[in-house]
Amino acid sequence: MIISFANVKGGSGKTTSSALLISGLTERGYRVAVLDCDPLLTLHDWCSTAWPERLTSARADKPADISRHLEAFKRQADFIIVDLSAATDVMNALTFALSDFVVVPMQGSAVDARGAIHTLNLLKLVEDNRRMVIKSSVLLTRLNPMVLTNSAKHVSQVISKQNIPFLDAAILERSAYRDMFTKMASLFSAEDPRIHNLDKARRDILCLTDAVERRLAG
Ligand SMILES: Nc1ncnc2c1ncn2[C@@H]1O[C@H](COP(=O)(O)OP(=O)(O)OP(=O)(O)O)[C@@H](O)[C@H]1O
Ligand SMILES: [Mg+2]
Repeated sequence: MIISFANVKGGSGKTTSSALLISGLTERGYRVAVLDCDPLLTLHDWCSTAWPERLTSARADKPADISRHLEAFKRQADFIIVDLSAATDVMNALTFALSDFVVVPMQGSAVDARGAIHTLNLLKLVEDNRRMVIKSSVLLTRLNPMVLTNSAKHVSQVISKQNIPFLDAAILERSAYRDMFTKMASLFSAEDPRIHNLDKARRDILCLTDAVERRLAG
């Protein structure tokens, strides 16, 4: 299964969401491979440090790298996670054509929603050209656990009106999700008591993983 994370809007939560799903799938015992298309290579570095033995990861700098790596990964992984970078329509379109599921992470803001809609329009173009349907979901990220802000409500309505399905889980704003990149570790192996709400973060990661599995099965 190839799952790609895309939103042409920078900072919408692609890399964080990818890392959370990678953690959940690995915790569930799946073999996971990762393709990092972001020149900063945050996810590739995190994977290499957090799971040097168990997880295969590679970087894709140019369009030709994508199919080459994905073909090789298919033989060795149950799930392949692709973290796309912002504003690269060619890399996005090529990856969509090879994906089983496209996740569009989006913060509850109108700016992120514009990026999400642009990304989903690009996906539609790929679907029309290939005459096939590619599963996709919007994933709300950085939600405030205390209150659903007006802009998050508004954006949810805008997306729902377009008949775009939301994933049946959202990602809360959690300092633990930043700490995993500070420590370059999985939240399932980090036992640092200074990581705030670690148990809740782990529970939410598994909920996200279950929601993705349900969406893939449905
Ligand atoms: N759920 C969250 N809780 C706390 N911080 C978060 C969360 N999601 C993202 N962040 C923070 O927001 C910033 C942007 O997130 P991230 O890097 O995941 O976005 P991105 O879409 O991958 O960005 P880019 O387009 O630059 O690749 C980072 O500093 C990250 O640590
Ligand atoms: Mg990123």
